[in-house]
Amino acid sequence: MTKEYVEVSKCEMSKAVPPEPCIVVIFGVTGDLTHRELIPSLYALGCKNLIPRPFAIIGFARRDWDDEFFRTEMKNTMKKVTECGEKEWEHFANKLFYVKGDFNDNSEDSYNRLRNRIKELQDELSIPDNVLFHLATPPEDYSTIIDRLGKVSLSKSENGWRRMIIEKPFGRDEQSARKLDNDIHKVFDEEQIFRVDHYLAKETVQNMLVFRFGNSGFEPIWNRNYIENVQITVSEELGIGTRGNFYERTGILRDMVQNHLLQLLCLTAMEPPVNYDASLQVETVKVLDSIYEMNIETDCILGQYSEGEINGVGVPAYRDEKNVSKDSIIPTYAAFKIMIENWRWAGVPFFLRTGKRLKNKLAEVTIQFKQTPHLMFPGFKRDNLSRNVLTFRLQPDEGIIYTFMAKQPGAELKLRPVNFNFQYDTAFGISEPPSAYQWLLFDAMKGDQTLFPRGDWIYKSWSIIDPVIKKWESQPWLDLPNYASGSWGPDAADKLIKTVGCTWNIKE
Ligand code: BG6
Repeated sequence: MTKEYVEVSKCEMSKAVPPEPCIVVIFGVTGDLTHRELIPSLYALGCKNLIPRPFAIIGFARRDWDDEFFRTEMKNTMKKVTECGEKEWEHFANKLFYVKGDFNDNSEDSYNRLRNRIKELQDELSIPDNVLFHLATPPEDYSTIIDRLGKVSLSKSENGWRRMIIEKPFGRDEQSARKLDNDIHKVFDEEQIFRVDHYLAKETVQNMLVFRFGNSGFEPIWNRNYIENVQITVSEELGIGTRGNFYERTGILRDMVQNHLLQLLCLTAMEPPVNYDASLQVETVKVLDSIYEMNIETDCILGQYSEGEINGVGVPAYRDEKNVSKDSIIPTYAAFKIMIENWRWAGVPFFLRTGKRLKNKLAEVTIQFKQTPHLMFPGFKRDNLSRNVLTFRLQPDEGIIYTFMAKQPGAELKLRPVNFNFQYDTAFGISEPPSAYQWLLFDAMKGDQTLFPRGDWIYKSWSIIDPVIKKWESQPWLDLPNYASGSWGPDAADKLIKTVGCTWNIKE
Protein backbone atom coordinates (compact mmCIF):
# COMPACT_ATOMS: atom_id res chain seq x y z
CA MET A 1 0.00 0.00 0.00
CA THR A 2 1.52 3.35 -0.94
CA LYS A 3 1.23 6.44 1.25
CA GLU A 4 -0.52 8.33 -1.52
CA TYR A 5 -3.37 5.80 -1.63
CA VAL A 6 -3.98 5.83 2.13
CA GLU A 7 -4.32 9.59 2.09
CA VAL A 8 -6.73 9.55 -0.84
CA SER A 9 -9.06 7.02 0.80
CA LYS A 10 -9.10 8.82 4.17
CA CYS A 11 -9.81 12.11 2.50
CA GLU A 12 -12.73 10.66 0.47
CA MET A 13 -14.23 9.12 3.60
CA SER A 14 -14.08 12.32 5.58
CA LYS A 15 -16.18 14.16 2.97
CA ALA A 16 -19.28 12.10 3.80
CA VAL A 17 -21.65 13.73 6.27
CA PRO A 18 -23.27 11.61 9.04
CA PRO A 19 -27.06 11.14 8.89
CA GLU A 20 -29.36 13.29 11.05
CA PRO A 21 -29.67 12.25 14.72
CA CYS A 22 -32.03 9.28 15.05
CA ILE A 23 -32.83 6.05 16.89
CA VAL A 24 -32.46 2.68 15.17
CA VAL A 25 -34.79 -0.04 16.51
CA ILE A 26 -33.76 -3.60 15.60
CA PHE A 27 -36.44 -6.28 15.80
CA GLY A 28 -34.90 -9.73 16.23
CA VAL A 29 -31.80 -8.37 17.91
CA THR A 30 -30.85 -11.76 19.41
CA GLY A 31 -30.59 -13.31 15.93
CA ASP A 32 -27.73 -14.12 13.63
CA LEU A 33 -28.05 -11.10 11.31
CA THR A 34 -27.74 -8.60 14.16
CA HIS A 35 -24.60 -10.30 15.44
CA ARG A 36 -22.99 -10.87 12.05
CA GLU A 37 -23.92 -7.71 10.16
CA LEU A 38 -26.03 -5.03 11.81
CA ILE A 39 -24.13 -4.16 14.99
CA PRO A 40 -20.66 -4.65 13.39
CA SER A 41 -21.72 -2.38 10.50
CA LEU A 42 -23.10 0.36 12.75
CA TYR A 43 -19.94 0.15 14.83
CA ALA A 44 -17.78 0.35 11.68
CA LEU A 45 -19.73 3.47 10.61
CA GLY A 46 -19.02 4.86 14.08
CA CYS A 47 -15.30 4.27 13.57
CA LYS A 48 -15.51 6.34 10.37
CA ASN A 49 -17.45 9.11 12.15
CA LEU A 50 -20.47 8.27 10.00
CA ILE A 51 -23.10 7.51 12.62
CA PRO A 52 -25.54 10.19 13.69
CA ARG A 53 -24.70 12.37 16.69
CA PRO A 54 -26.58 11.96 19.01
CA PHE A 55 -27.66 8.40 18.31
CA ALA A 56 -29.17 5.32 20.00
CA ILE A 57 -29.84 1.71 19.03
CA ILE A 58 -32.69 -0.19 20.70
CA GLY A 59 -32.73 -3.97 20.44
CA PHE A 60 -36.23 -5.45 20.74
CA ALA A 61 -36.66 -9.22 21.26
CA ARG A 62 -38.27 -11.86 23.47
CA ARG A 63 -35.24 -12.94 25.50
CA ASP A 64 -34.74 -11.84 29.05
CA TRP A 65 -31.81 -9.48 28.38
CA ASP A 66 -31.10 -5.98 29.67
CA ASP A 67 -28.92 -3.12 28.38
CA GLU A 68 -25.77 -4.47 30.03
CA PHE A 69 -26.29 -8.01 28.76
CA PHE A 70 -26.98 -6.71 25.24
CA ARG A 71 -23.74 -4.69 25.25
CA THR A 72 -21.61 -7.57 26.51
CA GLU A 73 -23.21 -10.06 24.13
CA MET A 74 -22.50 -7.81 21.14
CA LYS A 75 -18.92 -7.23 22.21
CA ASN A 76 -18.29 -10.96 22.69
CA THR A 77 -19.65 -12.02 19.34
CA MET A 78 -18.28 -9.25 17.16
CA LYS A 79 -15.24 -10.20 15.14
CA LYS A 80 -13.85 -6.72 14.60
CA VAL A 81 -14.63 -5.02 17.87
CA THR A 82 -11.13 -3.73 18.12
CA GLU A 83 -11.30 -2.09 14.68
CA CYS A 84 -10.78 1.34 16.19
CA GLY A 85 -9.92 0.49 19.76
CA GLU A 86 -11.43 -0.46 23.09
CA LYS A 87 -12.27 3.12 24.02
CA GLU A 88 -14.22 3.66 20.84
CA TRP A 89 -16.16 0.44 21.50
CA GLU A 90 -17.11 1.63 25.00
CA HIS A 91 -18.32 4.89 23.48
CA PHE A 92 -20.38 2.97 20.91
CA ALA A 93 -21.68 0.39 23.41
CA ASN A 94 -23.18 3.20 25.53
CA LYS A 95 -25.61 3.79 22.67
CA LEU A 96 -27.04 0.24 22.89
CA PHE A 97 -30.31 -0.29 24.78
CA TYR A 98 -32.62 -3.27 25.13
CA VAL A 99 -36.40 -3.62 25.35
CA LYS A 100 -37.87 -7.04 26.07
CA GLY A 101 -41.00 -7.66 24.08
CA ASP A 102 -43.16 -10.13 22.21
CA PHE A 103 -43.64 -9.39 18.48
CA ASN A 104 -47.12 -10.97 18.60
CA ASP A 105 -48.27 -9.16 21.73
CA ASN A 106 -52.01 -8.60 21.14
CA SER A 107 -52.42 -6.49 24.26
CA GLU A 108 -49.83 -4.09 22.77
CA ASP A 109 -47.97 -3.91 26.13
CA SER A 110 -44.66 -4.74 24.48
CA TYR A 111 -45.08 -2.07 21.82
CA ASN A 112 -46.19 0.55 24.34
CA ARG A 113 -43.02 -0.24 26.31
CA LEU A 114 -41.01 0.26 23.15
CA ARG A 115 -42.75 3.56 22.38
CA ASN A 116 -42.11 4.84 25.92
CA ARG A 117 -38.43 3.84 25.78
CA ILE A 118 -38.00 5.64 22.46
CA LYS A 119 -39.52 8.79 23.99
CA GLU A 120 -37.35 8.56 27.14
CA LEU A 121 -34.16 8.20 25.09
CA GLN A 122 -35.14 11.04 22.79
CA ASP A 123 -35.61 13.29 25.83
CA GLU A 124 -32.48 12.12 27.67
CA LEU A 125 -30.15 12.29 24.66
CA SER A 126 -31.81 15.20 22.81
CA ILE A 127 -32.60 13.09 19.75
CA PRO A 128 -35.32 14.47 17.45
CA ASP A 129 -38.29 12.27 16.53
CA ASN A 130 -36.50 10.27 13.79
CA VAL A 131 -36.77 6.48 14.03
CA LEU A 132 -35.54 3.75 11.69
CA PHE A 133 -37.07 0.29 12.30
CA HIS A 134 -35.11 -2.71 11.06
CA LEU A 135 -36.98 -6.01 10.68
CA ALA A 136 -34.36 -8.72 11.18
CA THR A 137 -36.87 -11.33 12.39
CA PRO A 138 -38.18 -14.43 10.60
CA PRO A 139 -40.29 -13.14 7.65
CA GLU A 140 -43.44 -14.71 9.17
CA ASP A 141 -43.36 -11.97 11.83
CA TYR A 142 -43.17 -8.98 9.44
CA SER A 143 -46.89 -8.30 8.96
CA THR A 144 -47.65 -8.61 12.69
CA ILE A 145 -44.87 -6.23 13.73
CA ILE A 146 -45.93 -3.68 11.12
CA ASP A 147 -49.55 -3.90 12.20
CA ARG A 148 -48.63 -3.39 15.90
CA LEU A 149 -46.37 -0.43 15.10
CA GLY A 150 -49.32 1.16 13.34
CA LYS A 151 -51.63 0.44 16.29
CA VAL A 152 -49.38 2.19 18.83
CA SER A 153 -48.85 5.12 16.43
CA LEU A 154 -45.14 4.46 15.95
CA SER A 155 -45.29 4.49 12.14
CA LYS A 156 -45.75 8.24 11.66
CA SER A 157 -44.32 11.39 13.18
CA GLU A 158 -45.37 15.02 12.87
CA ASN A 159 -41.92 16.35 13.82
CA GLY A 160 -39.52 13.92 12.25
CA TRP A 161 -39.40 10.77 10.13
CA ARG A 162 -40.13 7.06 10.42
CA ARG A 163 -38.50 4.50 8.13
CA MET A 164 -38.61 0.71 7.89
CA ILE A 165 -35.91 -1.66 6.62
CA ILE A 166 -37.20 -5.11 5.62
CA GLU A 167 -34.89 -8.06 5.08
CA LYS A 168 -35.24 -10.56 2.25
CA PRO A 169 -36.86 -12.89 1.33
CA PHE A 170 -39.72 -10.48 0.61
CA GLY A 171 -42.59 -13.00 0.40
CA ARG A 172 -42.37 -16.64 -0.75
CA ASP A 173 -43.83 -16.04 -4.19
CA GLU A 174 -45.43 -13.25 -6.15
CA GLN A 175 -48.76 -13.51 -4.38
CA SER A 176 -47.34 -13.39 -0.84
CA ALA A 177 -44.97 -10.54 -1.83
CA ARG A 178 -47.96 -8.52 -3.02
CA LYS A 179 -49.84 -9.33 0.18
CA LEU A 180 -46.85 -8.27 2.31
CA ASP A 181 -46.64 -4.98 0.43
CA ASN A 182 -50.34 -4.50 0.96
CA ASP A 183 -49.95 -5.06 4.72
CA ILE A 184 -47.02 -2.61 4.83
CA HIS A 185 -48.84 0.06 2.85
CA LYS A 186 -51.72 0.03 5.35
CA VAL A 187 -49.23 1.47 7.85
CA PHE A 188 -46.20 2.91 6.00
CA ASP A 189 -45.97 4.95 2.79
CA GLU A 190 -43.68 3.86 -0.05
CA GLU A 191 -41.03 6.51 0.69
CA GLN A 192 -40.69 5.05 4.22
CA ILE A 193 -39.90 1.51 3.00
CA PHE A 194 -36.40 0.09 2.39
CA ARG A 195 -36.47 -3.49 1.01
CA VAL A 196 -33.02 -5.03 1.42
CA ASP A 197 -30.92 -6.80 -1.17
CA HIS A 198 -27.45 -6.46 0.28
CA TYR A 199 -25.82 -7.34 -3.07
CA LEU A 200 -26.85 -3.92 -4.40
CA ALA A 201 -24.86 -2.21 -1.68
CA LYS A 202 -21.65 -4.16 -2.20
CA GLU A 203 -18.85 -1.78 -3.17
CA THR A 204 -17.88 -4.00 -6.08
CA VAL A 205 -21.44 -4.17 -7.39
CA GLN A 206 -21.76 -0.38 -7.30
CA ASN A 207 -18.41 -0.27 -9.04
CA MET A 208 -19.93 -2.22 -11.96
CA LEU A 209 -22.20 0.80 -12.47
CA VAL A 210 -19.27 3.19 -12.29
CA PHE A 211 -17.30 1.04 -14.71
CA ARG A 212 -20.17 0.95 -17.21
CA PHE A 213 -21.46 4.51 -16.89
CA GLY A 214 -18.47 6.48 -15.58
CA ASN A 215 -16.25 5.46 -18.51
CA SER A 216 -16.79 5.67 -22.22
CA GLY A 217 -14.64 2.75 -23.41
CA PHE A 218 -16.82 -0.31 -22.94
CA GLU A 219 -20.40 0.99 -23.20
CA PRO A 220 -20.34 1.25 -27.04
CA ILE A 221 -19.48 -2.46 -27.28
CA TRP A 222 -21.79 -3.57 -24.44
CA ASN A 223 -24.25 -5.33 -26.69
CA ARG A 224 -25.10 -8.28 -28.95
CA ASN A 225 -22.70 -7.15 -31.68
CA TYR A 226 -19.62 -7.71 -29.52
CA ILE A 227 -20.66 -9.92 -26.61
CA GLU A 228 -20.97 -13.68 -26.99
CA ASN A 229 -22.35 -14.51 -23.56
CA VAL A 230 -22.48 -13.28 -19.96
CA GLN A 231 -21.82 -15.49 -16.96
CA ILE A 232 -22.73 -14.78 -13.36
CA THR A 233 -21.41 -17.06 -10.62
CA VAL A 234 -22.05 -16.73 -6.89
CA SER A 235 -20.59 -19.78 -5.19
CA GLU A 236 -20.22 -20.57 -1.52
CA GLU A 237 -18.14 -23.11 0.35
CA LEU A 238 -20.46 -22.97 3.34
CA GLY A 239 -23.39 -25.34 3.67
CA ILE A 240 -26.58 -24.36 5.45
CA GLY A 241 -24.98 -24.42 8.90
CA THR A 242 -27.57 -24.08 11.65
CA ARG A 243 -30.24 -22.77 9.26
CA GLY A 244 -31.80 -26.16 8.36
CA ASN A 245 -35.35 -25.09 9.31
CA PHE A 246 -35.07 -21.88 7.31
CA TYR A 247 -33.46 -23.56 4.31
CA GLU A 248 -36.02 -26.36 4.09
CA ARG A 249 -38.65 -23.65 3.57
CA THR A 250 -36.48 -21.51 1.30
CA GLY A 251 -33.92 -23.33 -0.85
CA ILE A 252 -31.49 -21.68 -3.23
CA LEU A 253 -34.17 -20.30 -5.55
CA ARG A 254 -35.78 -18.14 -2.88
CA ASP A 255 -32.56 -17.48 -0.94
CA MET A 256 -30.23 -16.39 -3.76
CA VAL A 257 -31.75 -16.46 -7.25
CA GLN A 258 -34.96 -14.40 -6.91
CA ASN A 259 -32.94 -11.57 -5.37
CA HIS A 260 -29.12 -11.44 -5.58
CA LEU A 261 -28.61 -13.22 -8.92
CA LEU A 262 -31.41 -11.44 -10.74
CA GLN A 263 -30.16 -8.09 -9.40
CA LEU A 264 -26.68 -8.80 -10.79
CA LEU A 265 -28.26 -9.75 -14.11
CA CYS A 266 -30.24 -6.49 -14.17
CA LEU A 267 -27.25 -4.27 -13.36
CA THR A 268 -25.20 -5.97 -16.07
CA ALA A 269 -27.92 -5.75 -18.71
CA MET A 270 -29.76 -2.50 -17.98
CA GLU A 271 -29.79 0.63 -20.11
CA PRO A 272 -27.97 3.72 -18.75
CA PRO A 273 -30.19 5.32 -16.08
CA VAL A 274 -30.73 9.08 -16.36
CA ASN A 275 -29.41 9.72 -12.87
CA TYR A 276 -28.02 7.76 -9.97
CA ASP A 277 -31.36 7.82 -8.16
CA ALA A 278 -34.80 6.22 -8.50
CA SER A 279 -34.23 5.98 -12.28
CA LEU A 280 -31.80 3.12 -11.60
CA GLN A 281 -34.65 0.98 -10.29
CA VAL A 282 -36.77 1.96 -13.31
CA GLU A 283 -34.11 0.46 -15.60
CA THR A 284 -33.70 -2.76 -13.60
CA VAL A 285 -37.46 -3.38 -13.82
CA LYS A 286 -37.27 -3.03 -17.64
CA VAL A 287 -34.67 -5.82 -17.80
CA LEU A 288 -36.98 -8.24 -15.99
CA ASP A 289 -39.77 -7.23 -18.38
CA SER A 290 -37.57 -8.31 -21.30
CA ILE A 291 -36.69 -11.79 -20.04
CA TYR A 292 -37.88 -14.41 -22.49
CA GLU A 293 -39.99 -17.22 -21.07
CA MET A 294 -37.63 -20.07 -20.09
CA ASN A 295 -37.90 -23.67 -21.14
CA ILE A 296 -37.60 -24.79 -17.53
CA GLU A 297 -36.52 -28.38 -18.03
CA THR A 298 -33.75 -27.59 -20.50
CA ASP A 299 -32.58 -24.17 -19.30
CA CYS A 300 -32.67 -24.64 -15.56
CA ILE A 301 -30.48 -27.07 -13.66
CA LEU A 302 -31.11 -27.64 -9.97
CA GLY A 303 -29.00 -29.62 -7.56
CA GLN A 304 -28.40 -30.68 -4.01
CA TYR A 305 -25.07 -31.46 -2.40
CA SER A 306 -23.96 -34.89 -1.23
CA GLU A 307 -21.12 -35.42 1.21
CA GLY A 308 -17.61 -34.46 0.15
CA GLU A 309 -14.57 -32.41 1.13
CA ILE A 310 -14.10 -28.66 1.42
CA ASN A 311 -10.49 -27.57 1.90
CA GLY A 312 -9.55 -31.11 2.86
CA VAL A 313 -12.24 -31.41 5.56
CA GLY A 314 -15.09 -33.93 5.21
CA VAL A 315 -18.59 -32.40 5.21
CA PRO A 316 -22.02 -34.09 5.32
CA ALA A 317 -24.67 -34.30 2.61
CA TYR A 318 -27.50 -31.75 2.70
CA ARG A 319 -29.95 -34.49 3.72
CA ASP A 320 -27.75 -35.28 6.75
CA GLU A 321 -27.68 -31.67 7.99
CA LYS A 322 -29.54 -30.78 11.19
CA ASN A 323 -33.30 -30.13 10.75
CA VAL A 324 -33.29 -31.36 7.15
CA SER A 325 -35.57 -34.14 5.96
CA LYS A 326 -33.86 -37.38 4.79
CA ASP A 327 -35.71 -37.24 1.46
CA SER A 328 -35.65 -33.45 1.02
CA ILE A 329 -35.90 -32.19 -2.58
CA ILE A 330 -34.86 -28.66 -1.62
CA PRO A 331 -32.26 -27.41 -4.12
CA THR A 332 -28.94 -26.05 -2.84
CA TYR A 333 -27.69 -25.28 -6.38
CA ALA A 334 -29.23 -23.60 -9.41
CA ALA A 335 -27.98 -22.75 -12.90
CA PHE A 336 -29.98 -20.97 -15.59
CA LYS A 337 -29.73 -19.93 -19.18
CA ILE A 338 -31.68 -16.70 -19.55
CA MET A 339 -32.38 -14.84 -22.78
CA ILE A 340 -33.21 -11.14 -22.80
CA GLU A 341 -35.35 -10.13 -25.73
CA ASN A 342 -34.53 -6.52 -26.44
CA TRP A 343 -32.55 -4.54 -29.00
CA ARG A 344 -29.31 -4.67 -27.00
CA TRP A 345 -29.29 -8.33 -25.97
CA ALA A 346 -31.32 -10.46 -28.41
CA GLY A 347 -29.45 -13.73 -28.99
CA VAL A 348 -26.92 -13.31 -26.13
CA PRO A 349 -27.29 -16.03 -23.46
CA PHE A 350 -26.88 -15.05 -19.81
CA PHE A 351 -25.74 -17.99 -17.70
CA LEU A 352 -26.35 -17.72 -13.96
CA ARG A 353 -25.30 -20.18 -11.29
CA THR A 354 -25.14 -20.28 -7.54
CA GLY A 355 -24.74 -22.99 -4.94
CA LYS A 356 -23.79 -24.01 -1.44
CA ARG A 357 -20.83 -26.28 -0.69
CA LEU A 358 -19.05 -25.54 -3.95
CA LYS A 359 -15.30 -25.62 -4.48
CA ASN A 360 -14.60 -21.95 -3.65
CA LYS A 361 -16.40 -18.92 -2.30
CA LEU A 362 -16.53 -16.35 -5.06
CA ALA A 363 -18.84 -13.98 -6.88
CA GLU A 364 -18.05 -12.95 -10.43
CA VAL A 365 -19.70 -11.41 -13.45
CA THR A 366 -17.92 -12.34 -16.66
CA ILE A 367 -18.44 -10.75 -20.05
CA GLN A 368 -17.21 -13.01 -22.79
CA PHE A 369 -16.60 -11.07 -26.00
CA LYS A 370 -16.92 -12.55 -29.48
CA GLN A 371 -13.96 -14.07 -31.23
CA THR A 372 -11.96 -11.99 -33.65
CA PRO A 373 -13.61 -12.22 -37.08
CA HIS A 374 -10.32 -13.42 -38.57
CA LEU A 375 -6.92 -14.38 -37.14
CA MET A 376 -4.01 -13.51 -39.42
CA PHE A 377 -1.29 -15.29 -37.42
CA PRO A 378 -0.15 -18.49 -39.11
CA GLY A 379 -0.82 -21.74 -37.25
CA PHE A 380 -3.44 -20.28 -34.88
CA LYS A 381 -7.06 -21.34 -34.78
CA ARG A 382 -9.90 -19.04 -33.78
CA ASP A 383 -10.95 -20.71 -30.54
CA ASN A 384 -11.95 -19.78 -27.02
CA LEU A 385 -8.48 -18.45 -26.33
CA SER A 386 -8.90 -15.67 -28.82
CA ARG A 387 -11.92 -14.26 -26.96
CA ASN A 388 -11.46 -11.24 -24.74
CA VAL A 389 -12.96 -11.68 -21.31
CA LEU A 390 -13.87 -9.00 -18.79
CA THR A 391 -14.35 -10.28 -15.26
CA PHE A 392 -15.83 -8.29 -12.40
CA ARG A 393 -14.43 -9.99 -9.34
CA LEU A 394 -17.08 -9.07 -6.74
CA GLN A 395 -15.56 -11.11 -3.90
CA PRO A 396 -13.00 -12.11 -2.68
CA ASP A 397 -9.81 -10.50 -4.17
CA GLU A 398 -12.10 -7.70 -5.35
CA GLY A 399 -11.22 -6.15 -8.68
CA ILE A 400 -11.65 -6.27 -12.44
CA ILE A 401 -9.62 -8.43 -14.80
CA TYR A 402 -9.48 -7.99 -18.57
CA THR A 403 -8.01 -10.89 -20.50
CA PHE A 404 -6.54 -10.30 -23.93
CA MET A 405 -4.04 -11.89 -26.28
CA ALA A 406 -0.37 -10.89 -26.25
CA LYS A 407 2.74 -11.95 -28.11
CA GLN A 408 4.82 -14.25 -26.01
CA PRO A 409 8.40 -12.89 -26.18
CA GLY A 410 10.66 -14.95 -28.41
CA ALA A 411 11.76 -15.56 -31.96
CA GLU A 412 8.61 -17.45 -32.85
CA LEU A 413 5.27 -15.70 -33.09
CA LYS A 414 3.30 -17.20 -30.24
CA LEU A 415 0.06 -15.83 -28.79
CA ARG A 416 -0.87 -16.14 -25.15
CA PRO A 417 -3.75 -14.77 -23.03
CA VAL A 418 -2.60 -12.23 -20.42
CA ASN A 419 -4.45 -10.00 -17.94
CA PHE A 420 -4.94 -6.35 -17.10
CA ASN A 421 -5.64 -6.52 -13.42
CA PHE A 422 -7.28 -3.84 -11.26
CA GLN A 423 -7.39 -4.77 -7.58
CA TYR A 424 -8.95 -2.91 -4.70
CA ASP A 425 -6.06 -3.54 -2.35
CA THR A 426 -3.37 -2.07 -4.58
CA ALA A 427 -5.51 0.71 -6.09
CA PHE A 428 -7.21 1.94 -2.92
CA GLY A 429 -4.98 0.60 -0.19
CA ILE A 430 -7.75 -1.38 1.52
CA SER A 431 -7.51 -5.12 1.98
CA GLU A 432 -11.30 -5.52 1.84
CA PRO A 433 -14.01 -3.03 0.83
CA PRO A 434 -16.44 -1.90 3.57
CA SER A 435 -19.34 -4.30 4.12
CA ALA A 436 -22.57 -3.83 2.16
CA TYR A 437 -24.57 -3.45 5.36
CA GLN A 438 -22.70 -0.31 6.32
CA TRP A 439 -23.94 1.44 3.19
CA LEU A 440 -27.45 -0.01 3.48
CA LEU A 441 -27.85 1.33 7.00
CA PHE A 442 -26.19 4.62 6.13
CA ASP A 443 -28.45 5.15 3.09
CA ALA A 444 -31.62 4.22 5.00
CA MET A 445 -30.72 6.66 7.80
CA LYS A 446 -30.25 9.29 5.07
CA GLY A 447 -33.54 8.34 3.35
CA ASP A 448 -31.84 7.38 0.06
CA GLN A 449 -33.75 4.52 -1.64
CA THR A 450 -31.48 4.22 -4.72
CA LEU A 451 -29.99 0.87 -3.70
CA PHE A 452 -33.24 -0.69 -2.46
CA PRO A 453 -35.42 -2.74 -4.85
CA ARG A 454 -38.92 -1.48 -5.59
CA GLY A 455 -42.02 -3.59 -4.94
CA ASP A 456 -42.71 -4.12 -8.66
CA TRP A 457 -39.14 -5.40 -9.24
CA ILE A 458 -39.76 -7.94 -6.50
CA TYR A 459 -43.12 -9.11 -7.95
CA LYS A 460 -41.58 -9.52 -11.41
CA SER A 461 -38.58 -11.44 -10.11
CA TRP A 462 -40.95 -13.81 -8.31
CA SER A 463 -42.94 -14.25 -11.50
CA ILE A 464 -39.74 -15.56 -13.16
CA ILE A 465 -38.86 -17.93 -10.31
CA ASP A 466 -42.35 -19.10 -9.24
CA PRO A 467 -42.93 -21.41 -12.27
CA VAL A 468 -39.53 -23.08 -11.66
CA ILE A 469 -40.34 -23.75 -8.00
CA LYS A 470 -43.82 -25.00 -8.86
CA LYS A 471 -42.62 -27.39 -11.53
CA TRP A 472 -39.74 -28.70 -9.42
CA GLU A 473 -42.00 -29.30 -6.42
CA SER A 474 -44.56 -31.19 -8.50
CA GLN A 475 -42.03 -33.27 -10.45
CA PRO A 476 -38.26 -32.87 -9.97
CA TRP A 477 -36.55 -33.58 -13.29
CA LEU A 478 -33.14 -34.55 -11.87
CA ASP A 479 -32.18 -37.14 -9.24
CA LEU A 480 -30.81 -35.80 -5.97
CA PRO A 481 -28.23 -35.45 -4.60
CA ASN A 482 -26.40 -34.71 -7.84
CA TYR A 483 -23.17 -32.98 -6.88
CA ALA A 484 -20.44 -33.68 -4.35
CA SER A 485 -19.57 -31.05 -1.77
CA GLY A 486 -16.35 -29.38 -2.88
CA SER A 487 -17.11 -29.77 -6.60
CA TRP A 488 -18.33 -27.06 -9.02
CA GLY A 489 -21.89 -28.45 -9.04
CA PRO A 490 -23.86 -30.92 -11.17
CA ASP A 491 -22.47 -32.13 -14.52
CA ALA A 492 -25.75 -31.03 -16.07
CA ALA A 493 -24.74 -27.39 -15.49
CA ASP A 494 -21.57 -27.92 -17.56
CA LYS A 495 -23.68 -29.48 -20.30
CA LEU A 496 -26.02 -26.47 -20.17
CA ILE A 497 -23.24 -24.05 -21.03
CA LYS A 498 -21.70 -26.44 -23.58
CA THR A 499 -24.88 -26.08 -25.65
CA VAL A 500 -23.41 -22.75 -26.83
CA GLY A 501 -19.88 -24.14 -27.17
CA CYS A 502 -18.58 -22.61 -23.91
CA THR A 503 -17.38 -23.57 -20.47
CA TRP A 504 -17.87 -21.75 -17.18
CA ASN A 505 -15.23 -19.10 -16.96
CA ILE A 506 -13.84 -18.53 -13.49
CA LYS A 507 -10.68 -16.96 -12.24
CA GLU A 508 -9.75 -19.41 -9.46
C1 BG6 B 1 -27.83 -14.19 2.01
C2 BG6 B 1 -28.32 -15.61 2.00
O1 BG6 B 1 -28.80 -13.32 1.48
O2 BG6 B 1 -26.65 -14.08 1.21
C3 BG6 B 1 -27.23 -16.56 2.49
O3 BG6 B 1 -29.45 -15.72 2.83
C4 BG6 B 1 -25.96 -16.36 1.72
O4 BG6 B 1 -27.65 -17.92 2.37
C5 BG6 B 1 -25.57 -14.87 1.70
O5 BG6 B 1 -24.94 -17.11 2.36
C6 BG6 B 1 -24.39 -14.63 0.77
O6 BG6 B 1 -23.99 -13.30 0.93
P1 BG6 B 1 -22.47 -12.87 0.71
O7 BG6 B 1 -22.48 -11.39 0.90
O8 BG6 B 1 -21.66 -13.62 1.73
O9 BG6 B 1 -22.13 -13.29 -0.68
